[in-house]
Amino acid sequence: MISTIGIVGAGTMGSGIAQVGARAGLRVVMRDVSDEFLKRGLAAIDKSLQRDVDKDRLTVEAKREIVARIRPTTSLDDLRDAEFVIEAVNEDLIVKSEIFRQLDGITRPGVILASNTSSISITKLAAVTSRPDRFIGMHFMNPVPVMKLVEIVRGAATSVATYDATQQLAGAMGKISVEVNDSPGFVSNRVLMPMINEAIFAVYEGVGTAGAIDEIMKLGMNHPMGPLELADFIGLDVCLAIMNVLYDGFDDSKYRPCPLLKKYVDAGWLGRKSGRGVYQY
Ligand SMILES: NC(=O)c1ccc[n+]([C@@H]2O[C@H](COP(=O)([O-])OP(=O)(O)OC[C@H]3O[C@@H](n4cnc5c(N)ncnc54)[C@H](O)[C@@H]3O)[C@@H](O)[C@H]2O)c1
Repeated sequence: MISTIGIVGAGTMGSGIAQVGARAGLRVVMRDVSDEFLKRGLAAIDKSLQRDVDKDRLTVEAKREIVARIRPTTSLDDLRDAEFVIEAVNEDLIVKSEIFRQLDGITRPGVILASNTSSISITKLAAVTSRPDRFIGMHFMNPVPVMKLVEIVRGAATSVATYDATQQLAGAMGKISVEVNDSPGFVSNRVLMPMINEAIFAVYEGVGTAGAIDEIMKLGMNHPMGPLELADFIGLDVCLAIMNVLYDGFDDSKYRPCPLLKKYVDAGWLGRKSGRGVYQY
């Protein structure tokens, strides 16, 4: 039974995973590169839990205990006693590979290393470690405390025992897991991102306004958010990075990122987080 997890990255996803883990009673060691990033992650956790306190879904005492189970650190070495590690740093193969190389040396050999990557090959990341059988994709959805799904991604060498332990951990964290095999974008982003990209093409070609396209998908297809609203929520830079992974991974022009998406990212219009994306905030 796992009681301590390590998390690398205290951003949107890392802090969300830490919160859900600690709320499920796990001890969490959360690492980021600076105190400033850790503080921002802890503030996000505090804000999210406070909402539950305000709505009487959590007591002040329980909130205090959850926060106390999270140990922030800037030292990767502090993850040496973790029994399971989840990486959630920026979507960058080189950065992630370096972290896994280090984690492979720091953690005990039996420890499972998991990546929350949205699209990077699990098989490729696993290959930088000496334990590709104990390596897996654990793709949480944003916002982590709200979304039920974890897409569990089996790499080429992932063992059955690793899959079972990961599924058990996801269940203990209150999540429902769905199993997929390693392939560019897995299933979630293989299906979602081309839809978002196509919606941006429809704006680019003047087929309809952004508002019209989102209304059609909400009212006509029952999507809770339109694809363009959702793109701004995810981050247009993230959407572009994932389209590039699909495009390169399949060598197929059907995944070509829309020039308008590239233009927005070049302009620094990254969505909600930058105040402007497809829409202005
Ligand atoms: N945002 C989403 O909607 C979403 C959803 C599912 C999966 N993901 C994936 O989760 C991962 C993280 O995304 P995010 O949105 O949380 O990004 P983010 O930018 O909010 O956070 C990334 C964090 O990683 C930290 N970091 C960078 N290098 C580090 C290192 N060497 N050690 C420790 N920390 C380091 C950064 O300082 C930052 O705080 C990515 O792989 C992304 O593709 C994102």
